[in-house]
Amino acid sequence: MEFQFAVLSDPHVTLPQTLLSYPGRMHMLEVSVAALEVVLDHLSQLDLAFLLIPGDLTQHGEPDNHAWLGERLAKLPFPAYVVPGNHDVPVWDADGHSIDWRTFPHYYRQAGYGDTDQLYYTQVIHPGVRLIALNSNTFDTRGQLVGRVDPAQLAWLEGILAAASEPLKLVMIHHNLLEHLPGQSLHTVGRRYLLENRADLLALLRPAGVPLAFTGHLHIQDVAEFQDFFDITTGSLVSYPHPYRIIQVQQAAGRTQVRIRSHRVTQIPDYPDLQTQSREWMAQRSAAFMLQFLMHPPLNLAQEAAQPLIHHLSYFWAEVAQGDARLHFPQLPEPVRTFFEGCSDVGPADNHLDIHLQAQGGHSWQPSPLG
Ligand SMILES: [Fe+2]
Ligand SMILES: [Fe+2]
Repeated sequence: MEFQFAVLSDPHVTLPQTLLSYPGRMHMLEVSVAALEVVLDHLSQLDLAFLLIPGDLTQHGEPDNHAWLGERLAKLPFPAYVVPGNHDVPVWDADGHSIDWRTFPHYYRQAGYGDTDQLYYTQVIHPGVRLIALNSNTFDTRGQLVGRVDPAQLAWLEGILAAASEPLKLVMIHHNLLEHLPGQSLHTVGRRYLLENRADLLALLRPAGVPLAFTGHLHIQDVAEFQDFFDITTGSLVSYPHPYRIIQVQQAAGRTQVRIRSHRVTQIPDYPDLQTQSREWMAQRSAAFMLQFLMHPPLNLAQEAAQPLIHHLSYFWAEVAQGDARLHFPQLPEPVRTFFEGCSDVGPADNHLDIHLQAQGGHSWQPSPLG
């Protein structure tokens, strides 16, 4: 069996009438619709089995943006499947700006939510391929949105996994299940991108032979691997490098080859050199973000010590976001230098790689010749 599918993430759809000014924001919400249209145009020329979009479909759960995207996806020549990100269901009750989280499925009846009012679902989306689409947005007792899969969903998932017989099971969820930066779970800034109870989820998925999860949220290109489980996170269409992935699957004799190839949006009408313009946009707006890195654990620098170092780190996040980062900061003092250079990519290749799945486990990966 051979088929191909695509993944794009965090499109943060912002129609012009919904664009608010957020001072210093790193995301180019102005390009959201144009960048998405470029990608959908490319994908529509391919013979795709399906498209996955792991959340942050809209900027702030605006009804106009959800309605536009739901209708746009329904017109594609292949089925699209979505899950909500934290930006899609940001409030418990509708507040005039964002939808009520319970109404999310109504916008995506043709994108996975055909017969459920829950925020999670499962479907056989291709012969022998089951998608398990999970909701990682939970409101805590104080009404705060946190990245967590609730107990009812975990119980549902356990039943689904026990009954599923498809040879390939794919998970899609907004929050990350594995660390994509070293020590991420220990870092105040990095921790919020990880699912809080990822250990509970992995304890169900790994014994059930689920090898791959497609995630978003972090806005970087990264593939992380832990004990035969891969978390493939895809960057955002509204931030550098505006990536998306096309993935070929070949199955034969208990062996599955997953060939991941990544692409970028290079130009749209108002941004003829989007890659350069977007990289500069990010560099010019990353000071506050880098200050958080410097002043929070593990570095814990005082503001007076952190401030003079920021300009050396202007392109740090752009390098991380594009994946396969090789970071060198000879100008930085220790231990700051070691910390940031330690974010160089050491795991599986992030943009172009082949993953070999074995029926009995013992999966392996290698960078593709393109990488
Ligand atoms: Fe996002
Ligand atoms: Fe997010």
